[in-house]
Amino acid sequence: MGYYSTLGVLLLSLLAYTNAEPVKFADCGSIHGKVAEVDIQPCPSQPCQLHKGESYTVNVTFTSSVASQNCTAVVHGVVEGVPVLFPIPQSDGCKSGIQCPVEPQKSYSYVNQLPVKTGYPPIKLVVEWELKDDFNKDLFCIKFPVQICALTDLWLDGVRMCLIKVSLNHWL
Ligand SMILES: *[C@@H]1O[C@H](CO)[C@@H](O)[C@H](O)[C@H]1NC(C)=O
Ligand SMILES: *[C@@H]1O[C@H](CO)[C@@H](O)[C@H](O)[C@H]1NC(C)=O
Repeated sequence: MGYYSTLGVLLLSLLAYTNAEPVKFADCGSIHGKVAEVDIQPCPSQPCQLHKGESYTVNVTFTSSVASQNCTAVVHGVVEGVPVLFPIPQSDGCKSGIQCPVEPQKSYSYVNQLPVKTGYPPIKLVVEWELKDDFNKDLFCIKFPVQICALTDLWLDGVRMCLIKVSLNHWL
């Protein structure tokens, strides 16, 4: 079988409501903090569908258990178990909604942008987002799945569609 015959395309529709729920996430080692909530905008249905060329707002509300002068974000995209560094324009947590120095037992909302470059492959992957303190320990570490949509900008009935490639071998 040729390459194309093993691939199909699937449309994921976005539900037409805007009242997004908190994102379902897994904690991957928030040693020096505790995460209360994760919000991504826009993300009307989960896993979040990321359109190329768009930027998404990530809002992580957490409580720190330590004092830290600075904090730094590190983002990875985990593709088939392999973490790949995902560059973000602003890695300084003190410039991402957090008033530094970070104080213990205080709640913070870390707010940053996740830009989706047009060169990214249209795959499903896990985003791992860490915020490190002065001790290089995680104030938070969260991970959540996302689907990067294929480039085609397709609208149906005013609803933006997410075009993804799927292997038919899953079904045949
Ligand atoms: C981030 O989320 C928190 C908790 O839901 C909310 O109080 C805060 O207003 C949000 N911040 C932004 C910039 O959206
Ligand atoms: C925090 O950041 C400031 C400004 O970049 C730097 O001067 C200072 O040494 C940093 N402190 C720690 C503990 O890393």
